[in-house]
Amino acid sequence: MAPLLTPWQGDAIHGATAAAVAASVANPQSLDFAARPSGTWMGLRRRQRIGQYRIEGRLGEGGFASVYKAYDTVEGIHVAIKAPHDYLVDRETLTSFRQEVRLVAPLDHPNVLPIKTAGVIDGRFVIVTPLGIESLAERMRRRMARKTVLSFAEQLLEGLATAHKRRIIHCDVKPENLIIFAENRLRLADFGLARVALRSLDASGSGTVGFLAPEQALGKPSLRSDVFAAGLIVYRLMSGELPEWPFRWPYKGIKKVRRAYGPGLVDLVRKATAVDDQKRFKDAVHLLRAFRRIESTAIRD
Ligand SMILES: Nc1ncnc2c1ncn2[C@@H]1O[C@H](COP(=O)(O)OP(=O)(O)OP(=O)(O)O)[C@@H](O)[C@H]1O
Ligand SMILES: [Mg+2]
Repeated sequence: MAPLLTPWQGDAIHGATAAAVAASVANPQSLDFAARPSGTWMGLRRRQRIGQYRIEGRLGEGGFASVYKAYDTVEGIHVAIKAPHDYLVDRETLTSFRQEVRLVAPLDHPNVLPIKTAGVIDGRFVIVTPLGIESLAERMRRRMARKTVLSFAEQLLEGLATAHKRRIIHCDVKPENLIIFAENRLRLADFGLARVALRSLDASGSGTVGFLAPEQALGKPSLRSDVFAAGLIVYRLMSGELPEWPFRWPYKGIKKVRRAYGPGLVDLVRKATAVDDQKRFKDAVHLLRAFRRIESTAIRD
């Protein structure tokens, strides 16, 4: 079966294509589980073809999907293809995939990983995105210059603020879901657990242990839970240390961070990661604003 969508050719026409992606996934036929071939399928293998893509290897796997590196034989570029684990291909997984596409498609921002194509190809539901160099999790294993740290922190907050402006809670902000591209461009990926903030939210506490805000662990994720996770990542970037439950202040490595980055950013992390969610920034838009203010006044090279 041919891909359902026309791949876009770069950032310039992304806006128009985002609409096409949204329109296509809105077509229930394209994602109707009952209409798919029955039976499960094994994970994709090297050199296997699906539609116009040739699988080159597996990049990793997460809770409910695997991500593969593939070559797009039409565009002549490499891409990342996310496909659910075979044993999990049920209506719920497809709903979550569809939700991810619908939430991400309108987020046309340099710090959000765009979806090139999404739909059923050869009987499999896949999401195709541009291929990054590595995740922030991998990058953080090596030393980083202070200006790179600040640039990554700002880009993370930019990407998240774009989602928060639409009241989208990402729910799984972590270094593995931040993908680095050429020239240290950072893009927020993986809106598979995302949901739209409603006034009374009754949601499951899914997310990734280690970055879960206390209230999210109790099943009440909010924009403030994303702020919490982002604050932890900013601290991890600056200090090399990941604060842990029960998130008691001061965090390990605080003196070094204060010396290198100034007290303003230390206070910002403290506020972003307050255990009491009401003491945090209310969303990433506010956090980003504070970050910019501090960075411009306090940080000197
Ligand atoms: N577009 C991409 N370019 C390069 N690497 C990617 C891309 N998308 C995902 N990855 C990498 O593939 C791996 C698997 O991703 P996946 O989202 O399935 O799992 P995860 O992020 O580790 O866990 P979770 O399911 O909680 O999101 C991750 O290490 C991620 O960094
Ligand atoms: Mg992920």
